[in-house]
Amino acid sequence: MTDEPPENIVVIGSGGHGREIAEVCLAVARAEPGRVHLVGVIDDGPRAGDLARLISAGIAYLGTVAAWPWSSYACSFVVGVSDPTARRRIANSLVAHSRPATLVHPDATLGSQVALGPGCVVFAGARLSTTVRLGAHVHLYHNVTVGSDAVVDDFTTVCSAATVGSGTHTGAGVMVGAGAVVLDQRRVGDGSTVAAAACVVGDVPPDTVVTGVPATARSPKHSLRATS
Ligand SMILES: CC(C)(COP(=O)(O)OP(=O)(O)OC[C@H]1O[C@@H](n2cnc3c(N)ncnc32)[C@H](O)[C@@H]1OP(=O)(O)O)[C@@H](O)C(=O)NCCC(=O)NCCS
Repeated sequence: MTDEPPENIVVIGSGGHGREIAEVCLAVARAEPGRVHLVGVIDDGPRAGDLARLISAGIAYLGTVAAWPWSSYACSFVVGVSDPTARRRIANSLVAHSRPATLVHPDATLGSQVALGPGCVVFAGARLSTTVRLGAHVHLYHNVTVGSDAVVDDFTTVCSAATVGSGTHTGAGVMVGAGAVVLDQRRVGDGSTVAAAACVVGDVPPDTVVTGVPATARSPKHSLRATS
């Protein structure tokens, strides 16, 4: 406990990704009493099923971004949207109102000299080696492994159980699919997608979708990245 009041946090997005991030926030609050307080979830168009799931989890639905009293309620935000492009758009629209919060689940482990940008979320089971650098609003799902000296740039999402190797550079706005592997020292260009279960053995150019083992480029770029 500290004398400081807890950091009030709102999560933007009531879909599965947003609710998982709300749970990360609650886990941090349990592990470090007084550090954070989950105020609730904001969503401009919540689905009925997602609202019901919020209610059953005891998490408050706070209304829309426009209706939330940003200027009179001191809080920071996390964008609970997995798609990197949408997350960037929402985060950029909020910078005038609030500041991003960074959340690390207590069951994640971070090596020495790990730098996390504002808005980063690290889910349970993620393992970050030494001297890792994550940019702003990077999301690492459950059981992701990031090797030593890796750099992951702003607004990238790494899905569950993916491995991003040592010395890799993953660009901005990248989606690394579930269970994918980026071998050591490789580069993944901005805006690219590494498909679920792909193995990246060479550098990936920007705005490219790669699939398979070894990963090869698909063209043109597929639009779907993830569902929530
Ligand atoms: C690669 C990916 C972006 C393709 O998305 P999409 O275009 O909507 O995919 P579709 O379902 O329309 O499939 C298009 C083609 O790609 C193939 N494909 C889809 N995902 C694939 C994958 N992971 N590996 C290999 N091939 C894949 C499909 O079989 C299909 O092949 P076809 O054209 O020969 O029939 C997506 O499947 C993916 O892997 N996203 C990663 C995100 C992720 O892991 N989400 C999980 C939540 S954590």
